[in-house]
Amino acid sequence: MTKAHIHILKDANEVSVKAADMIQEVVEQNERPVLGLATGSTPLGMYRELIDRYQAGEIDFSAVRTFNLDEYYGLAPDHPQSYYQFMMKSFFEHVNVPLEQIHIPHGKPTDVQAYCQQYDAWIEKAGGIDLQILGIGVNGHIGFNEPADELQPFTHLVRLKEETIEANARFFERREDVPQYAITMGIRNILQAKKIILLAIGEDKAAAVAGMLNAGITTRLPATFLQLHDHVHVLVDEAAASKLVSTSR
Ligand code: GLP
Repeated sequence: MTKAHIHILKDANEVSVKAADMIQEVVEQNERPVLGLATGSTPLGMYRELIDRYQAGEIDFSAVRTFNLDEYYGLAPDHPQSYYQFMMKSFFEHVNVPLEQIHIPHGKPTDVQAYCQQYDAWIEKAGGIDLQILGIGVNGHIGFNEPADELQPFTHLVRLKEETIEANARFFERREDVPQYAITMGIRNILQAKKIILLAIGEDKAAAVAGMLNAGITTRLPATFLQLHDHVHVLVDEAAASKLVSTSR
């Protein structure tokens, strides 16, 4: 059983619109809103919806500060497959978040450990994250917090699991091009957000979503740690909800 608010929506479009509504609310209610942002295919519709609202003059991002969850280690910001480029092309180039208010982990820091501590310090200095957007990996990862014996609380370097490399290979020309490591916010960074929205679309996420909500808390399915948070909204389409038992609907 879980405390999470579960929203089962008809399709990907409804998930994107609902997520955009929740972001808009936080942007409008806070003087200096801090958003935690995610990459992947899942939030693309949400970014598109927010861009449309910005272009229609319905939302203003000028006071927003953002922190992205993760970045491939070894890819510089100008690398076409970096999450930096993904975020610029999918969202930031089309809205008015000032560049100096955007934070995306650097994929090639000179000192990884010092950089990770710096990233945590930036989040803290911004006053913490008001709303964290999350996707979920097929193996239950959040950010790049992969299933493991231990999870890390703060921003850190992580080795990617084979199934993650496989799932993300579609963005690269060859499987060998997918980086083996990433820099990711840790579980504590995520749980410190005041509110969390997890988005999942499609049948291949159904098992991870069901596990996240119904299993006990386990490092083998990192998304189960969200059960420790009081303000989690899970936005799923019918396919991603298809393995939920009826009591959790
Ligand atoms: C990626 C990202 C995650 C994302 C997940 C799912 O590897 N690091 O933050 O949530 O995998 O991606 P997608 O939405 O493309 O299925």
